[in-house]
Amino acid sequence: MTQVSGASDVPNLSRRQFMNLLTFGSVTGVALGALYPVVKYFIPPSAGGSGGGVTAKDALGNDISVSNFIATHAPGDHVLSQGLKGDPTYIIVKEDKSLADFGLNAVCTHLGCVVPWNPNENKFMCPCHGSQYNSEGKVVRGPAPLSLALVHATVEEDKLTFTQWTETDFRTGDDPWWA
Ligand code: FES
Repeated sequence: MTQVSGASDVPNLSRRQFMNLLTFGSVTGVALGALYPVVKYFIPPSAGGSGGGVTAKDALGNDISVSNFIATHAPGDHVLSQGLKGDPTYIIVKEDKSLADFGLNAVCTHLGCVVPWNPNENKFMCPCHGSQYNSEGKVVRGPAPLSLALVHATVEEDKLTFTQWTETDFRTGDDPWWA
C-alpha cells in the first residue's frame, strides 16, 4: 500500500480548492466503494461468457447447485450470483421455493452501483443516489431511468443457466433496453 501524502499539500490549497477536493474525494469514495463489488465480480472473469449462456456461479466462482441453493434459502430471497459476462445477477426464490425463470442484473441503471436487496422493504434500494426497484427489478423511484436488466434463468441438471433476454420486458411491455 502506498501512502497518500495529500496532507502535506493542504497548506498550499485555498480553502475553496480544499473544500472542492474534499467534496470530490467523498463522492468518489462513495462511488468507488459501491462499485467495488462490481469490480470484484469481474475478477476473475467468469468462464464461458461467449455463446449462449453461462452457469450461475457463487461469489467464489463455483457453479451453484440448485438443490443446495433451494435448501439454504427462503421464499422471497433475492441472492447475488455471477451471471453473464461476470455481471452480478440476482437469483430469485419464489414463494413455492422454486427459482424464478428470470434473473436480474444488479447494476443500477443510473451510474452503475450494485443495488442491494432490502427484504424489509421488499425492494432493491440503491445506496448511491436512492433509486429503488420493485421485487422484479422494475424501477419505481429515480434517478435511475430504467429497470434492472433481465436474463433468462433455466434449471438444467441441478445447475442454473443464464441466457440473454432479448424479448419484450414483461414488466414494462417495452423492448429490452439492454439488448
Ligand atoms: Fe444507483 Fe445512482 S447509481 S441511484
